[in-house]
Amino acid sequence: MSKRNLFVAGNWKMNQNFFDGMALVKQLVEAVPAPGVEVCIAPPYVHLHIAHHILLPHTNYVLAAQNCYEAYAGAFTGEISPLMLKSVGASYVILGHSERRNILGEDAGRIRAKLKLALASGLRVIWCCGEPESIRKAETHESFVLQQLKEEILDVLSKEEMEKVILAYEPVWAIGTGLTATPEQAQAMHACLRKALVDSYGTDTGEATRILYGGSCKPSNARAIFEQEDVDGGLVGGASLDVDSFKAIIEAAEAISTQTAEEA
Ligand code: PGA
Repeated sequence: MSKRNLFVAGNWKMNQNFFDGMALVKQLVEAVPAPGVEVCIAPPYVHLHIAHHILLPHTNYVLAAQNCYEAYAGAFTGEISPLMLKSVGASYVILGHSERRNILGEDAGRIRAKLKLALASGLRVIWCCGEPESIRKAETHESFVLQQLKEEILDVLSKEEMEKVILAYEPVWAIGTGLTATPEQAQAMHACLRKALVDSYGTDTGEATRILYGGSCKPSNARAIFEQEDVDGGLVGGASLDVDSFKAIIEAAEAISTQTAEEA
């Protein structure tokens, strides 16, 4: 069972207008005023500032942006810098999500640049990796994901930088599809990622890094997945848009955290 603090993040993607979004944040803090694990909300940019003020009195909540640009300021029409995100209360940014890779065309070079600048700006990063269905079918998923890790993390980040990063393994075939990796599939990939982190950064950093699972995470499967030794919580898309579902997923993480504390 995991010895790390569990982390449950809700990635709202491009959903909820501002007013519905603020209502959702309020419903969440009413339903779960002080979660027993770290809970992160990643709403669209325009929601961040007010969401920050709603979350502020509640312990164990943090705020993430879903993206940032790779420059501090300048002539980049339509883009948002990591410093701007910090100024409205975000403490994390999600980078490397498969939707940004596949729909917005972000490659490893761009993700590396964003990572470096986000970390230099004082943000923490939730870095996503994961294989498409064809790679899983060809049974080359471990080498595929390890290559993403090597190119975007191991070759690029110092140990100090790595300590500000959370990994999220999100098999692309499981995102928004209703298909989920089995707990065993998730554990196998998480163990593989952790071993690579330990080999590069040492046991202390490798063992302390949280690795989340994402991809159709829901109340019915969260507990079995989070229970795995190397799974430290979830990055939740669709199910984070419904208070009851997200609350149930938080509760699954809380139950594991309590059990771990009792066993220690
Ligand atoms: P999903 O999305 O839970 O809707 O599959 C997860 C994600 O993309 O982070």
